[in-house]
Amino acid sequence: MEKIITDDGSITFRNDKLDECYHTKSGALDESLRKHVIPSKILDEVKDELYIADICFGLGYNSIVAISEIWKINPDCKIYLYIFENDINIMNELKNISLNSELEKIKTLMLSLIEKGELIENNFYGKLFLGDFREELKNCDNSLFDAVFFDPFSPGKVPELWSEEVFSLVYAKCKFNCVLTTYSCARMVRDNMKKAGFKVENGPCIGRRSPSTICIK
Ligand SMILES: C[S@@+](CC[C@H](N)C(=O)[O-])C[C@H]1O[C@@H](n2cnc3c(N)ncnc32)[C@H](O)[C@@H]1O
Repeated sequence: MEKIITDDGSITFRNDKLDECYHTKSGALDESLRKHVIPSKILDEVKDELYIADICFGLGYNSIVAISEIWKINPDCKIYLYIFENDINIMNELKNISLNSELEKIKTLMLSLIEKGELIENNFYGKLFLGDFREELKNCDNSLFDAVFFDPFSPGKVPELWSEEVFSLVYAKCKFNCVLTTYSCARMVRDNMKKAGFKVENGPCIGRRSPSTICIK
């Protein structure tokens, strides 16, 4: 895999098989914050607990930034993090990436979760679902998540991961008012989200002219 330094200084990779990057070149960590964490509304109110699904975890930037920002607002918030990924190699690349000191602590937490598969530590509970998220999600309770970061490779390359059936499954796992964030605004994707029951809105434009997408249950 080719390593790429994005415009905010954070590292991403290019997946050779799909000829696609794991993040936007305009800034990988910036993308996590502005395309996923802020639009997910998890920072809008101080919450005692939050259930988050990180679908297509990759290097885990969406989870790392989310945890950091939530605990800045409320260090006592209990975070339940469910991560879904089918490639152990990309998750292990996180070991070789340096982050700032604040994010390094959370990186260590993520590496421990990846190693153990399940982790309980103070105000954190994490569970790794290693496999195809379409199967693994079926093992989660319905109406569980407050926020879903939905981050597969692009619908052009893997349309089967953006189908109505997939969004219906995710929808079932969301609480009422749960927000799903994703970078794609493709018509086919948004139609499938709507058919699954989500209300669909434009998200921010980051790294390109078109908006990302925010779905609300
Ligand atoms: C665009 S990258 C995600 C980037 C990631 N959110 C991050 O912050 O690094 C897509 C990820 O989806 C994973 N993936 C692809 N198909 C999958 C599937 N069916 N189930 C779970 N993960 C999958 C890939 O291995 C890859 O890590």
